[in-house]
Amino acid sequence: MKHNFGAGPCILPQTVFKQAADAVLDFNGLSILEISHRSADFVAVMEEAQALVKKALNVPEGYSVLFLQGGASLGFTISALNMMRENKTAGYINTGTWAKGAIGEAKAVGIDVNIFASSEDQNFNYIPKDYKAPTDVDYIHYTSNNTIFGTQFQTTPEVNVPLVCDMSSDIFSKPVDVSKYDIIYAGAQKNLGPAGATLFIVKDDILGKSTSPFMPKYLNLSNHVAKGSMMNTPPVFSVYASMLNLRDLIENGGVQGAEERNTAKANALYNEIDANPMFKAAVQGEDRSKMNVTFLLTDESAKDEFDKMWNDAAIVGLKGHRSVGGYRASMYNALTLDSVKVLTEVMGEFARIKG
Ligand SMILES: Cc1ncc(COP(=O)(O)O)c(C=O)c1O
Repeated sequence: MKHNFGAGPCILPQTVFKQAADAVLDFNGLSILEISHRSADFVAVMEEAQALVKKALNVPEGYSVLFLQGGASLGFTISALNMMRENKTAGYINTGTWAKGAIGEAKAVGIDVNIFASSEDQNFNYIPKDYKAPTDVDYIHYTSNNTIFGTQFQTTPEVNVPLVCDMSSDIFSKPVDVSKYDIIYAGAQKNLGPAGATLFIVKDDILGKSTSPFMPKYLNLSNHVAKGSMMNTPPVFSVYASMLNLRDLIENGGVQGAEERNTAKANALYNEIDANPMFKAAVQGEDRSKMNVTFLLTDESAKDEFDKMWNDAAIVGLKGHRSVGGYRASMYNALTLDSVKVLTEVMGEFARIKG
């Protein structure tokens, strides 16, 4: 077995892989890949998946759950188009590559973007806090966890306008107060399921209020809500595996249980990085992400030696993103504390050899 620290698509529980694999061969006598999305069997899957999202995140009344396609990348566009109101202005917090992606798509659909907070001055190694959120904008958008840079919002920004969040890389990793949001969206391929589905949790009050002159049918959330997320063929396999994963999450203590396990994993790795003279963390203090831990060697010339050691320990996916360099350990829900210990032991051994 390999220890998968990849940033996404990423590890899911082995039991989920097994059940999903079984359903490819036999799902009530057919393959899950060949059944009609209009069949009673699949409608039941979609309904259970939606109900489990609501249960896991304690979604209040007045919200709809959708499994769409296009990834979080299309979520950038969909959220901007559906939240556009008479001001045609939105506030965005710029915390890195994906936030910038969202900003670009909002501009592309004609929104005047006010970047009222940014951590670009220090290559996105912190979460901006010293800002005044604008009140004369249609909505505010932020990215809760910055997969590439390894920073994470520990609290929801205080705003007085509708709030939109890209939660692609930390959804289901901890409890969330959904009532604070108008749209939450997330690509499935981190803590939810295989790539293919994009989760939307949408406050019903926002539907049908867009002022955008450009609104293709697929991008209008009202249509998807009206059709129960079945306006067109949904990503059947991704929804099915997500449903299995949500069952597994709920059986294992829900998002509270996930948060405890994720905190233990993050503490184990950050403690090793901070104590080990061969490494330094890319992010300091409270802004550190529990999902994506970014760190660097203190002596770059030792890179080949360290790379060989972790590769020999069957660790994969540890190479850092080129925007930060060094290493990135992504520790999504399904990664075990035992896998993290394999990594911290390799780091400890590396320091002993070098020291
Ligand atoms: C925070 C965040 N937003 C957006 C994206 C883009 O997601 P997708 O590939 O689903 O379009 C990613 C991908 O890793 C991400 O981590």
